[in-house]
Amino acid sequence: MVPLDLTLYSLAMHAPQPDRLTDTAEPTIAELIAARPHLSMHAMDGLMMDGVPLARVADALGTPAWVYSAGAMRARYRALAGALDGLGAHIHYAVKANDHLAVLRVFAAEGAGADVVSGGELLRALAAGIAPERVVFSGVGKSAAELRLALERQIGQINVESAEELDMLSGIAAGMGRTARIALRVNPDVEAGTHAKISTGRARDKFGIPYREAVALYSRAAGLPGIAPAGLAVHIGSQILSVAPYRAAFARLAELVRDLRAAGQSVDTMDCGGGLGIGYRNEPAASPAALAGAIRATLGGLDLKLVVEPGRWLVGPVGVLLASVVLVKRSEGTRFVVLDAAMNDLVRPAMYEAWHGMVPLSAVDAARPASPADIVGPVCETGDTFARDRSAPPLAPHARVAILDAGAYGAVMSSTYNARPLAAAAMVADGEWATIRARQPVEALWAGEHVPNWV
Ligand code: LLP
Repeated sequence: MVPLDLTLYSLAMHAPQPDRLTDTAEPTIAELIAARPHLSMHAMDGLMMDGVPLARVADALGTPAWVYSAGAMRARYRALAGALDGLGAHIHYAVKANDHLAVLRVFAAEGAGADVVSGGELLRALAAGIAPERVVFSGVGKSAAELRLALERQIGQINVESAEELDMLSGIAAGMGRTARIALRVNPDVEAGTHAKISTGRARDKFGIPYREAVALYSRAAGLPGIAPAGLAVHIGSQILSVAPYRAAFARLAELVRDLRAAGQSVDTMDCGGGLGIGYRNEPAASPAALAGAIRATLGGLDLKLVVEPGRWLVGPVGVLLASVVLVKRSEGTRFVVLDAAMNDLVRPAMYEAWHGMVPLSAVDAARPASPADIVGPVCETGDTFARDRSAPPLAPHARVAILDAGAYGAVMSSTYNARPLAAAAMVADGEWATIRARQPVEALWAGEHVPNWV
């Protein structure tokens, strides 16, 4: 029985499936694996990441557990750096996507800078060995303490998002006897064509300085104590799949550079933001080369130091969330596969209706004929659903699955809702793996709590 299933499985893996990317059908398990070079399915060892059977990691760490491929991170970093090479653009990894020190260390060793949005991320980036001058601080509400920290540590650039923040920074910097090298983040009023909750460059969004006010504010900044304007920044959103919105935004920013220079201002740098999307469903996504092309076509001739701030593209596909089946219940004709991972671990499906691929760790499970199922977590909310009406093979209690593309905005967005401790994490490289985060002990959940003696 088993050999027959496996034969069919491996045939399915290698059969050409030319139309799958363009039709609306869900990708098959074989197609999901084939599109992610660090993953492979083996008859005996099951789903492997860079030569490590993921079942072995799940045996050792238990589930839920995150697993990241260091090799895939390096490969993606180098592919992006290669595409940007001709532009001389620098990569500032967006720490928010995955802020684990081991992840930051991989990128630091590749020469990445960092884009941070809090004092915590700033300190993490420095702790991982990223040089302060390679750190850019973005965000719409940096506190006075965070701005002071950034100035003390002499980071490379602060991206200012409002006139109010500019004045606050000027006061703090002048008081410290420091000069803040800043860029003005401009809101270009562009529709990024992504989920509304992660679109950031429309006029009504909270981010950036209104396009029409940018020239005047830049000129005012140049005269403020403690402020040295170096250029402009833009970030129009996340999980952007087409290059057109980038082109539109960069073209508007190029216009501003010309206007500012015509007004006698010096503009040296352009931070082009992040947002490059990935094919969660194997859908076609804009490539780094296409992004580089859009930058070249719009900003290329302006003699600017260019920076990009990708997060998801670098780490999204490199990580999985391992989960075990607790039980399978049938209710009103629906097969509910209940996992031990939940929305507190990976919130993206609940928060953005995000689609994540799912692959059984066992090759035998993966080869069984699929039928519709709702794949859910145990948390007490209907939103705790990883996949609705998903075509999935039969999965018995204790069967294990990998939820794909969980490397970005996965662990960093976890909570301990329902008193569920933060999951363990591992990193694999060249056939080896290491624990990079122990599962949080349940007692740690209340370790910082105090019960007043009058209760
Ligand atoms: N730069 C700035 C100023 C940002 O706000 C962001 C992301 C990035 C760069 C990196 O964007 P990326 O290359 O990763 O798309 N939690 C959401 C995504 C939120 C993105 C927030 N800002 C999700 O899970 O889809």
